[in-house]
Amino acid sequence: MQYSEKVMDHFMNPRNVGEIEDASGVGTVGNAKCGDIMKVYLKIEDGIVKDAKFKTFGCGAAVATSSMATELIKGKTIKEAMEITNKAVMEALDGLPPIKVHCSCLAEEALHAALWDYAEKNGIVIEGLEKPVNDISEHEEVPEEEY
Ligand code: FES
Repeated sequence: MQYSEKVMDHFMNPRNVGEIEDASGVGTVGNAKCGDIMKVYLKIEDGIVKDAKFKTFGCGAAVATSSMATELIKGKTIKEAMEITNKAVMEALDGLPPIKVHCSCLAEEALHAALWDYAEKNGIVIEGLEKPVNDISEHEEVPEEEY
């Protein structure tokens, strides 16, 4: 299995590890199949994501994708933040091996879960945001035998 230099860099030196004490939104998601868990904290002010941090108990690709996802979301408006899909995260990392794609889905879902939490706390609706799941393996398309 081959990882890009960017994946290795974000795995060895993950950015934004930690928590935000007075976070505007916190999202935790897991994948029951691989057992990995990701928690994302967002600080949102005036509709802009001012800060993002994460804690990931998971594989190298999960660490690298949460590192990149939190890098990408910082400074974005909520609308722009909604455009950070797992594909965008993977592209920013110069790709992931196919069996690691689900790790990037975990990152996307964790961002969405944190945005959902923010929206609920503030009584707002974020266009295009669906209620996140706690366990992404529930709606995974990757067939079981690929694990
Ligand atoms: Fe499950 Fe990477 S193996 S998140």
